[in-house]
Amino acid sequence: QDDLYKKQHRPQIHFSPKENWMNDPNGLVYYQGEYHLFYQYNPDSTVWGPMHWGHAISEDLIHWEHLPVALKPDSLGYIFSGSAVVDHNNTSGLGREGVSPMIAIFTYHNQKKADAGELVFQNPGIAYSLDKGRSWEKYSDNPVLENPGFIDFRDPKVFWHAATDKWIMSLAAGDHIRFYSSSNMLKWNFESEFGLGVGSHIGVWECPDLFSVSVSETDEKKWVLLVSVNEGAPNGGSGTQYFVGDFDGESFDPVGEDEDVKTKWVDYGKDNYAGVTWSGITENDGRRVFMGWMNNWQYAEQIPTDGWRGAFTLPRELELVNSYGDYLLKSQPVSEYDQLRKDSQKIAGFAMEGEMEVVDRQELPLELKLTFDVRDHSSMNFAEKFGVRLLNDKGESLAIGYNNVDKLFFVDRRNAGWDSSENNFSQINYAPYILNQTKLDFHLIIDKSSVEMFAVDGLVTMTERFFPSQDFSKIEFFTEGGRIEIIEGELSLLERVW
Ligand code: FRU
Repeated sequence: QDDLYKKQHRPQIHFSPKENWMNDPNGLVYYQGEYHLFYQYNPDSTVWGPMHWGHAISEDLIHWEHLPVALKPDSLGYIFSGSAVVDHNNTSGLGREGVSPMIAIFTYHNQKKADAGELVFQNPGIAYSLDKGRSWEKYSDNPVLENPGFIDFRDPKVFWHAATDKWIMSLAAGDHIRFYSSSNMLKWNFESEFGLGVGSHIGVWECPDLFSVSVSETDEKKWVLLVSVNEGAPNGGSGTQYFVGDFDGESFDPVGEDEDVKTKWVDYGKDNYAGVTWSGITENDGRRVFMGWMNNWQYAEQIPTDGWRGAFTLPRELELVNSYGDYLLKSQPVSEYDQLRKDSQKIAGFAMEGEMEVVDRQELPLELKLTFDVRDHSSMNFAEKFGVRLLNDKGESLAIGYNNVDKLFFVDRRNAGWDSSENNFSQINYAPYILNQTKLDFHLIIDKSSVEMFAVDGLVTMTERFFPSQDFSKIEFFTEGGRIEIIEGELSLLERVW
């Protein structure tokens, strides 16, 4: 595409804005062959500020085309996060001449009032498009729901609930989620609330997403509720938890009694926040596709990128599995991603100890798939830690691995270049997972400034940014405290899309 995308740290296969600040993905909707991606955008600066909705479209979830800003602030405030749907039956009456309106449901945030020291009550508003998202009209009677008195009242996510023939909106209200229903999206009725007493409550709840999924290899259907929380993630700062349960059109009932509703995380890495799923894809091909912001509010405004800030994860297909009675989300890159693989090389099985070079002078992005033998070799000098290390000529490195003593996956970015320990960037991050298997599969997608780890067939994911002073160009396997056996592997170079 463009020289802007050749600069240092620029993702080569992940979405990032041409310039300036981006945070949450918004309004993810599929319509007539196009995947829409809107996002929190400040067109005038590389830090957060007056929020607009930026816009891009794609036909394959991988190659993106930038479109002009879709929504701008107005007299009611900044345009914070929200969702988009297509109103196929024109329940809103905003369609014209047989054209179904695409409707964006966003958050109004009145920063002027906030700056004047007044209390701000956020409200959902809507805008609609009759030309496949190219131009937008704000609804004349916004907001569509009066805030009953919560300072934080935002990030509406709407879907059509066929069983009760109505729209359902999930909304974050500070320390809990509220569900509303509507026949036309213009007037909303309170249904119920969820979340007090369960989940992580160190910080404020944001960006909910409620959807139904089939449990893999069963006839069972469950509902999943994603809830982002900032502070309170397992490795500090912002992260996205999820709950599994049932939803009857009125209330969400989690599996298990309150005291044993477990807090589960979509991703244990530091950099996957405010992620939600696409509307319209499930109806089209059955998949539930998620995308998150690869950042963390602890250091989001400080990361050292030049002229732009913010990137998204790869679109990921979510699945729900029943693992010994526990419902767990699995994530995998969408299958469209497979087309990016070129020059795949098989790695034949071998045993090693210490360090072993895999590639040198190699440009990113690339992908590594590895299967380790993790039988208990305690009597045979089995490694305490092992994994993959990225290096450059400046002595900087990033390690991604598994600690077989503490049973933890980890990403160590203490020596990965940009050092921001005061913002909790330069640290080791962990994901717990006790392996009962004899094999451990490890799938890494490594871009210029990010790694996404999908381990145990996507049951454990970690997404992490890094900012070396020179691109990482060397990869090695490493072990500590013993040897490891790699059963098989594959290294693929990835075609850049920017
Ligand atoms: C999450 C968030 C949302 C809000 C938006 C503002 O990162 O705080 O709750 O709508 O960002 O940009």
